[in-house]
Amino acid sequence: MKTLLIFGVFALIKFCSSLSLPPSFKKCDKRKADFDECLSVAIQSAISQLDKPLEEYGLPSFEPFLIPNLPPKIGRKIDFYHRYKNFKIYGRTKIRKTRANMDFHDKTLTLEVLNPEVRYVFEYEAKGKMFLLPIDTSGAGSGTAYNVTYVYTFTFGEYTREDQRYFQVIDTHLVMQPQDMVFHFDNLLEDKELNDGFSRLLSKNWKIVFEEIIQLYVEIYGRMYSDVFNRFLRKVPVTEIFDGLNNVTYTITFTSEEYTKDGKTHLHVIDHNLVMQPQELIFNFENLFEDKELNDGFNRAMTRKWKKIFNDLASLYVVNYGHAYAAIFNKFLSKLPLEELFDWLPTSKSATKSDFNECLSEAVHGAIRQLNEPMEEYGLPSFEPFFLGKFLRLPTGLQEL
Ligand SMILES: *[C@@H]1O[C@H](CO)[C@@H](O)[C@H](O)[C@H]1NC(C)=O
Ligand SMILES: *[C@@H]1O[C@H](CO)[C@@H](O)[C@H](O)[C@H]1NC(C)=O
Repeated sequence: MKTLLIFGVFALIKFCSSLSLPPSFKKCDKRKADFDECLSVAIQSAISQLDKPLEEYGLPSFEPFLIPNLPPKIGRKIDFYHRYKNFKIYGRTKIRKTRANMDFHDKTLTLEVLNPEVRYVFEYEAKGKMFLLPIDTSGAGSGTAYNVTYVYTFTFGEYTREDQRYFQVIDTHLVMQPQDMVFHFDNLLEDKELNDGFSRLLSKNWKIVFEEIIQLYVEIYGRMYSDVFNRFLRKVPVTEIFDGLNNVTYTITFTSEEYTKDGKTHLHVIDHNLVMQPQELIFNFENLFEDKELNDGFNRAMTRKWKKIFNDLASLYVVNYGHAYAAIFNKFLSKLPLEELFDWLPTSKSATKSDFNECLSEAVHGAIRQLNEPMEEYGLPSFEPFFLGKFLRLPTGLQEL
């Protein structure tokens, strides 16, 4: 009888196409109780470093943050056309307070940032009639917002590239709330005194301007920030950004026997034992309850108690999982004789090459990585996803799942 022990940590071998977190960025451990506080400090520190670009990470300078063009969105009904371009935003790296909350279950980051002063500098074009006066002008404009709270909600998707896990922003929501605003438009009205008086009047009524114009652009603004965030996320695997992300360790022991087919020696797995030890398990059942909030709450509650649930169900799951792997392995072994699998077969234990096990680990790792697609010729299905059709063996007392 021969025993093959495969010990696979499904995680994190570093490849050249990914980057580590910049050394000046702080890394937080998801397992710690103060994770959100740590993340708040880390994000505030990272943003304040963006007064210059971090080109290696695809991050532009935020001083100023540039928005080249905003589509004209208003004025159709009120016979007044205005258009803004070359938006430059200053002051986003000076932060008074940051509050971050990361939910790994829903993969959402809620980020609240308070900037004491944010200055928008732009060019405008305006055309229309103000009372009886025709206006057709363009010039420079600015707006300054004081004590602005920005609340971003980023929703992430996750994907794997070269064995590394990456996050990607798939949805963004931004709400912006200033405490006060001041506007100035150069050149809107020919008479300078009248012009400055008009800007003063706008500033006094900043809430109206904010609701009517700025709110319309907040969505675009949020999208630009998530584009920048995604450039960074494409380069840095999520396991580099956070400590303590879950690795799953599987230890599977195959016991096999030799048999001869067409004059060649084959192996056949006769027994297997799979041990699986995750560091965390996240449950997500859809439509368990009609009410979405109740449904999500239930999933969260199960996720919090994953250890108990895992211990109750692990034996059931793991036996069947091991079964499925052994069946696939056997199909493969029946197609390839032993001499095809190994270069050189030791006749006694002492003859084994010293690095045989390292070589085998690498070979198995490499082979499993290739199973993101099926290899039909060898009877191997795709492992992404690994399809466990139904449970074959049920522990006593659990007839139906
Ligand atoms: C901004 O907030 C600070 C602290 O609460 C306050 O002292 C300051 O007066 C505020 N500034 C404006 C322009 O409202
Ligand atoms: C997961 O594995 C990687 C690489 O072996 C390690 O650096 C990381 O700390 C592990 N995560 C946990 C939560 O142990």
